[in-house]
Amino acid sequence: MDCCSPRMFLPHAFFHAMVLAIIITVMAEEKTCDLLGEQGQESSKELALLNRLEPLVNQSFETESKNGDGHYIYKFRICREVFSNMTNSGLVQISKTDNKQKVIGRINETHLANGTRWIMLVYQGGDPYGTHCTQEGRKALVMIICNRTMLATGFTMVAEEREKIKQCSYVFELESSLACPPEDLHQNVHPHLSIGSILLITFSSLIAIYIIGGFLYQRLVVGAKGMEQFPHFAFWQDLGNLVADGCDFVCRSKPQNAPAAYRGVGDDQLGEESEEQDDHLLPM
Ligand SMILES: *[C@@H]1O[C@H](CO)[C@@H](O)[C@H](O)[C@H]1NC(C)=O
Ligand SMILES: *[C@@H]1O[C@H](CO)[C@@H](O)[C@H](O)[C@H]1NC(C)=O
Ligand SMILES: *[C@@H]1O[C@H](CO)[C@@H](O)[C@H](O)[C@H]1NC(C)=O
Ligand SMILES: *[C@@H]1O[C@H](CO)[C@@H](O)[C@H](O)[C@H]1NC(C)=O
Ligand SMILES: *[C@@H]1O[C@H](CO)[C@@H](O)[C@H](O)[C@H]1NC(C)=O
Repeated sequence: MDCCSPRMFLPHAFFHAMVLAIIITVMAEEKTCDLLGEQGQESSKELALLNRLEPLVNQSFETESKNGDGHYIYKFRICREVFSNMTNSGLVQISKTDNKQKVIGRINETHLANGTRWIMLVYQGGDPYGTHCTQEGRKALVMIICNRTMLATGFTMVAEEREKIKQCSYVFELESSLACPPEDLHQNVHPHLSIGSILLITFSSLIAIYIIGGFLYQRLVVGAKGMEQFPHFAFWQDLGNLVADGCDFVCRSKPQNAPAAYRGVGDDQLGEESEEQDDHLLPM
């Protein structure tokens, strides 16, 4: 096939330009966290966490820390380079005294883990220790703790562990709403009912069941009509009378007639009726 005739050359040139453009785009894309393990296999759990942290990749965090041998500034970014002139630098230590910079952890060696209210981010592959920790590479451990009020706040250094022979680390803390469990968000919208309201709801439900159930029972089983359909109608009527009498006794300032007061509550409604009419109520 004739590759270089004008008819074939144009499509070829176009194809090459396309491939070049794609390669340039891929290379220009910002570096991000590399979760590849030893087997070159990305874990779906870690990828899910990486997606969860996506809103923070734009931000840059900074904290100061003084210890025995110096005063340092720590700069931290999630899955982005802190300084583009330091390859894969995810967490950088800058000495305030001599401005020396050290990469504590790199984004191309990221590990993620989470629990109910925290996400742990580990950057390994930092600059090697000079004398401590068998001169292994430095490592940053950032604990992201749930704080609902902020997307990101409170980046601080917690501790530096370098007395061990291996697995030394710089430990940091960051608070973020991204580390919070979703169920809690739901609870915030619908706060828990207080014990008082639960009792109130239970009580009113019981009353409703009593009235409706009693009504149906009286109507369908007993065959009551009119007001009699209300459950225990006579009892409630009596209770009403009793309350009215009690009120009458307590609240009325002057007695209607002196003897009635001695005969007790409840006799009032009998009014002026003769005492003989009560006789049939007495036990024989
Ligand atoms: C990052 O910041 C730029 C501008 O500062 C903004 O346009 C972009 O939407 C931000 N991206 C995220 C994921 O917040
Ligand atoms: C990298 O760049 C920063 C500012 O962009 C500069 O302060 C620092 O000295 C540079 N570090 C190295 C190792 O070149
Ligand atoms: C990560 O990046 C650093 C600096 O570019 C490099 O030395 C190191 O080998 C990389 N680590 C891995 C696991 O690719
Ligand atoms: C860890 O994060 C994943 C992905 O966001 C989530 O599905 C899982 O429930 C979290 N684990 C715990 C214990 O909260
Ligand atoms: C959450 O962050 C805010 C603002 O920094 C802070 O005032 C508050 O104490 C934090 N809440 C918790 C539970 O740490």
